[in-house]
Amino acid sequence: MTFHRKETVLIPESDLDGMSVDTLAVRAGQLRTGQLEHSDAIFPTSSFVYNSAAQAAARFGGEEPGNIYSRFTNPTVQAFEGRIAAMEGGERAVATSSGMAAILSTCMALLKSGDHVICSRGVFGTTNVLFQKYMAKFGVTTTFVSLTDLQEWGSAVRPDTRMLFIETPSNPLCEVADMEALAQLAHDNDALFVVDNCFCTPVLQRPLEHGADIVVHSATKYLDGQGRCVGGVVVGPAKLMDEVYGFLRSAGPTMSPFNAWVFHKGLETLPIRMRAHCDNALELATWLEQQPAVEQVYYAGLESHPQHELAKKQQKGFGGVLAFCVKGGREEAWKFIDATRMISITANLGDVKTTITHPATTTHGRLSPEDKSGAGITENLLRLSVGIEAVEDLKTDLYRGFQALQNASNT
Ligand SMILES: Cc1ncc(COP(=O)(O)O)c(C=O)c1O
Repeated sequence: MTFHRKETVLIPESDLDGMSVDTLAVRAGQLRTGQLEHSDAIFPTSSFVYNSAAQAAARFGGEEPGNIYSRFTNPTVQAFEGRIAAMEGGERAVATSSGMAAILSTCMALLKSGDHVICSRGVFGTTNVLFQKYMAKFGVTTTFVSLTDLQEWGSAVRPDTRMLFIETPSNPLCEVADMEALAQLAHDNDALFVVDNCFCTPVLQRPLEHGADIVVHSATKYLDGQGRCVGGVVVGPAKLMDEVYGFLRSAGPTMSPFNAWVFHKGLETLPIRMRAHCDNALELATWLEQQPAVEQVYYAGLESHPQHELAKKQQKGFGGVLAFCVKGGREEAWKFIDATRMISITANLGDVKTTITHPATTTHGRLSPEDKSGAGITENLLRLSVGIEAVEDLKTDLYRGFQALQNASNT
C-alpha cells in the first residue's frame, strides 16, 4: 500500500525576519512533513514520483516547482541550504559534495577561459593547487598575492581580472584580510569578490555584509563540527547562485541527503560551539606565547597579532584555529606532535575534538618549496584546531610535547 501524504514544505520564514544568527541556526530552513515530526526528516531518495505524465513534464520543463531528482533537487539538501543562506544573510545557497567542490563550482559557473583570478597566498593548499594546476588547464590564470598587502592586490589587477579569492582568517597562519578594501578593489574592476568563511562561520563573521559577493564553505569543518561528513556550500545573490546551481545540475558535485541532514543538525549547535572554540583557543594562544620552546604564535585574538584591531572590527570572535612555531625544524615539530596523547593527529579542523597538524607535510605538502615559503609554511609550524575539551586538560596534553622537546635538548 502506498500512502499519499501532503508534500513536504519548508516552513515559511517571514516570522524569522531580523532574528539573530543564533536563532536562525536553530529555526531557519525547517522542513516538516505531514507526519508533523519535530526534528527535521531526511529524504534519502534518488528520484521523486509524479501523479501523472503531464506533471512529470511540467516539473522537468520548469513550469511547476517541485522535486525531480536528487542530483539537483532534494528536500533535505534544500533545508540545509535555506538555513545556511539565512545565517550568512545571502539570498540563496547551493550545497556541494565538498568544500573543494564549492570552490570548483563557483569557478566553473562564473569564470571562463581567458579570465584572470587573484588569490591570496595563504589559502588551503588544495585551493592553491586547484587554481594553479587545474583552472589553468582551462585557460583561467591566477596570480597569488599576500593576503594583507593591499598594494600587491592593486598591482596584480589586469583588464581580464574577474575574481578575487581569499580566506580570512587564513589557513593556517590566521592572517586577516581587510574585506571592505578588497571588495572595493574587486568592484572597481568589475570582478567578483569570493570569501572562504570556513574559519569563522557566519556566527563570527558575515562576509556578505563586508562587500563580498560570494561566500564558500567547507561544511566538513565547523558546520558539521563533529568530523562526520564531507560537504561544502556556496552562498550569494540569487542571480549568481542560479549559475552555480546550473553547473551543479549539469556536472553533479552534489551533497547527499544524509550529509545535508548532518550539517543541518550541526548548524543548530554552531553558535554555542563557536563560542567554546574561541574561549579555549584564546586561552591556549596566550599560554603558548609564554612557553620558552615556542618561537611564535599566530592567532588574531592576541594583541601581538598584526591584524588584531581589524579582526576585532570584522569578527565577533577570533575562531578556534591557531598556529605556532616551535624552536627547531621538522624534527622538533614531529617530536612535539608525537608526544601528545589525547589531541588527535589529523588534518581536519573545526571539530569539537582538538586536532594537531604539521601543515608542511600534510595540508600544504603538495606546494612547491617556493609556494610554501611564500605562504609562511615553515617546517617548525604546527596548526592546532582547538576543540571544546576542558582547556586545562588540553594544556596537560600539550605540555607533554614541551617535555619531549626539553628531554631531547637534555640528551
Ligand atoms: C579553509 C578551507 N577551505 C576549503 C577546504 C576544502 O574543504 P573540503 O575538504 O571539504 O573539500 C578546506 C579543507 O581543509 C579548508 O581548510
